[in-house]
Formats: sequence, structure tokens, C-alpha cells
Amino acid sequence: MEFTLTTRPLPEIDAPALAILAFSSLPPSPDFAGGVPKEMSDSGEFTAKPNETALIHLPQGLKARRLLLAGCGEQEKFTPAVMRQTGGVIARALQARSIQQAAVRLEDGVDAAMLRALVEGLITGGFEPDLYKTEKKNGGKLLERVELSVPAITPELEAAVETARITGEAQNWTRALVNEPGNVLTPRALAERARSMAEECGLACEILDEPRMRQLGFNTLLGVAQGSAEPPVLIVVRYTPAQPASQDHLALVGKGVTFDTGGISIKPSDGMEKMKYDMAGAAAVLGAMRALARLRPPVAVTAFAPCVENMPGPKAQRPGDIVKTFQGKTVEVLNTDAEGRLILADALTWAAREGCTHLVDAATLTGAIAVALGNLYAGAFSNDAAWQQRLLGAAARAGERIWPLPMDAEYRELLKSPFADLANIGGRWGGSISAAKFLEEFVEGKPWVHLDIASVAWLEENKPWMAKGPTGFPVRALVELALDWQQPSA
Ligand code: BES
Ligand code: ZN
Ligand code: ZN
Repeated sequence: MEFTLTTRPLPEIDAPALAILAFSSLPPSPDFAGGVPKEMSDSGEFTAKPNETALIHLPQGLKARRLLLAGCGEQEKFTPAVMRQTGGVIARALQARSIQQAAVRLEDGVDAAMLRALVEGLITGGFEPDLYKTEKKNGGKLLERVELSVPAITPELEAAVETARITGEAQNWTRALVNEPGNVLTPRALAERARSMAEECGLACEILDEPRMRQLGFNTLLGVAQGSAEPPVLIVVRYTPAQPASQDHLALVGKGVTFDTGGISIKPSDGMEKMKYDMAGAAAVLGAMRALARLRPPVAVTAFAPCVENMPGPKAQRPGDIVKTFQGKTVEVLNTDAEGRLILADALTWAAREGCTHLVDAATLTGAIAVALGNLYAGAFSNDAAWQQRLLGAAARAGERIWPLPMDAEYRELLKSPFADLANIGGRWGGSISAAKFLEEFVEGKPWVHLDIASVAWLEENKPWMAKGPTGFPVRALVELALDWQQPSA
């Protein structure tokens, strides 16, 4: 999607469609200045609630051929989050009419955060997961060009549009990757996608293959992979800043299970098809790298994506198998469906030993996180309150909802095994916390935050602002976290 910033006043904009924001709290307005036109509000057809739209053809006094009123609710409650959603609603309303070129007029008071939210909303709203459909939705006509008309152009607004465009496109890139089915996107195919992305963006890419990982002793990762005919990989993608602000080195670690059958502890078939999204963490860290390559923050960032397919093949690991992690602790695999923590254990230790100073992982790790938080929030777990606070701050600015959960030392007892150092499951209660406590054992004491994104990586139904399917969470938070890296941290 292409964007241009202009200062053309409302009547001068001659686009096929022109969108304006309408507020329910403003008095009716005859000249489309934010309030709902009187006839419309009298008719009750359009009340400017969020997600509501109305389309007027050949609006009087305007050059635009159509005017789209986008409801934004009460002006006092208008936040970047509402703006982002409205952007999505505008894109989808236009695409439903096969309109490919449009303008959005913004009145006074639009700042960089608002404009960024709008552009991200337009881009993510325009995404359709229809790669494999022969007949595309709306004849495949996507919104291509958008004029953003503002009262005055500033360098801050220009930068906001650029940042948002890059971030929104990275989020959609992640969504497309997550939507690839397990037969197409094997671990090696995912590595190839990462490699070509890195090449395109000027990032370094290294793929650790099975023999290499065997040599290094990534036994818990290899244990998960051994039930599949598809070999595992560890994808490593590096960004090095021209002028680093500090010696800090951020690691983004993403779970890349390209399909999770559960292994021998096999999952019920109902809904199993969705387990193609069990690589959403890997896709998100790679998507974040794609954006960071273009946005060039002053901090070194490396993505690590351990990728496997969890299958119950003839060589599959058995419940009760005991495996030694790269870090050295032994694990009793009581449930082969708790595979994410096994592959992440080795990857997190590798990231820490590679010299990364700050770790974040994103993983569709437990169904229990959706029991705890529903589908609005991802869960955050950390061994370092200050580091977690930085991530939560970045997520809030990026408009991604993340809620911190407890990590008291007593939870560690859930993971006791009679025969090994640790069990890979912690029993019925607090399932997301015991999973996080398991990961904590492998981060070598580095500041670390684990994001359990199983609750938010997949949208169950179409929304007026976004298509059903992969969401691309938490690409925006990860990008914002790195972009905000001004000061060397103590
Ligand atoms: N990939 C799943 C978690 C998941 C569940 C992601 C639902 C998305 C939607 C993970 O590997 C898993 O199977 N976890 C088990 C852990 C249990 C065996 C301790 C779970 O959540 O049931
Ligand atoms: Zn599983
Ligand atoms: Zn899984």
C-alpha cells in the first residue's frame, strides 16, 4: 500500500473515495467536519459508533466521487487503538467495493501516534488470507494508494507514516507466513523464507541444520523433531546497527513448530488443522527483523527460530523419555505435546551463550493462556521486572495487549520429576506459568521475557477491521521495543 501526505482541504480532494472520521459526540455538521450530517443522524441510519460506516455518492460540495463516513464513537474516548481499528474498517469497507485508490482527511489534532495507528490499521485491514483461493475476495482488488490529507505536514508525521508502513507490512508478511499450511511450510521451507527475506533486507542469515545441532547437543530440540520425516532447523537472522548506542544485544526467540500433532501424546482431531499456526512466534520474530532492517534502530538484534514438526512417526519420542538439554539439565518428557518448551530451551540457551544480553521469546506455548486471559491479551512472564516493564511499555505504545503473570519461585515445584532434573509438564493448574518456569531454567540468568501468544496469534472470526486467521501478534511490540533503544541500559 502506498501513502502520500498532502494538505489538500476536504473539498479539493478528487479521489474515487474519500474517508473522514465521524464522531457521535459532535453536533450534526452540514459540511462533513466531524459530526454526522443532520439528515443522516435524524434517519438513525448512521450514529458514528466505532466500526460503523456510511457511503455517500457524489457528495455535495466535494470533488471526491464517494464519501465514506467512518464512525469513531465519542471524541473524548478516541485513542490510537480506536484509530487503528477505524483504519482497518476503512480499508475493508473500500475493498468490499473494489476501490483501490482513496484519501483520508484528518482534521486538527492528529499527531504522529494517531497517524501511525491509522496507517497500520489500513495496511492490516487490507490483508486477505486468500493465497490459495482461485477466486479472490472482491475480485482480488486491494486498496493500493491512499492520500492522507492533514492540516499541516511535519517531519514527525512523515516519519510516522514511514514507520507505520514498514511495521504494518511486516505484520502482514508474518500473517501470510503463519497462514501457510503444514505441507507447504516445513521447517526447511520456513528456513528458505527466512533466508530470502534476509537477503532482500540486507540481514545476515545462518541456518543450523540437524548434524550441526547434534554436534552442539540440542537434544531436547532434536527429540521433538525425531518423530517427523522433516528435519529440524535453527534459523538465526542478525541485524547489526551502523552505530550501536551500547553493547546491548537483543535476542528475539520464536517458537517454530510448523505443525503440532501433539506427537505420541496426540491431540484430538477436532481443530487440529489450526496447529499450523504453532510457528506464529517464529514468523513474528522474523517479521520484526524484516521491519528492523529498514528502520535501523541503534541496537544489535538477532532472531532465533527453532523449527520442527511435531509428529508421531516411528522414531517419535515416547512419554517417559529422558533427554539432556544443551544447557545440561535432564528433562523427563511426560507429555510429547508440551514440545514448544523443549525446542525453546535449547534455543534460549544458545541465544544467551551467543552473547545476547536481553532476551524475549514469543511462543504459542499453552492453551491455558487463553483460559486465563481470553483472546484479547497475550501473557508475559519474566525473571526481571524492569525488562518486562520496558516490553510492556513498548507493547502499549504499539497497541498490542500483553498482561503480566506471576513467576513466584514456588511454581518451580510443579516441574519436579522423580527421575530427571525437570519434567516437561506441571500438572493441571497454572499451566502457562509452569511452562514459563520451565523456560526460565534455560536463559542463563539473562533478563528475559516470555510472551505466550497462543491466545492472540489467531483470530477466530472475521472482524470489520481484520480478516479471520493469523494476526501477526507481536510484531509491532517487538519492533517498538528495539526502536526505543536509546540509552545503554545499566
Ligand atoms: N501448541 C500448543 C499450544 C496451543 C494450544 C497453541 C492451543 C495454540 C492453541 C502446545 O504445544 C501444547 O500442545 N501445549 C499443551 C501443554 C500441555 C501438554 C501441558 C496444552 O496447552 O495443552
Ligand atoms: Zn503441543
Ligand atoms: Zn505446540
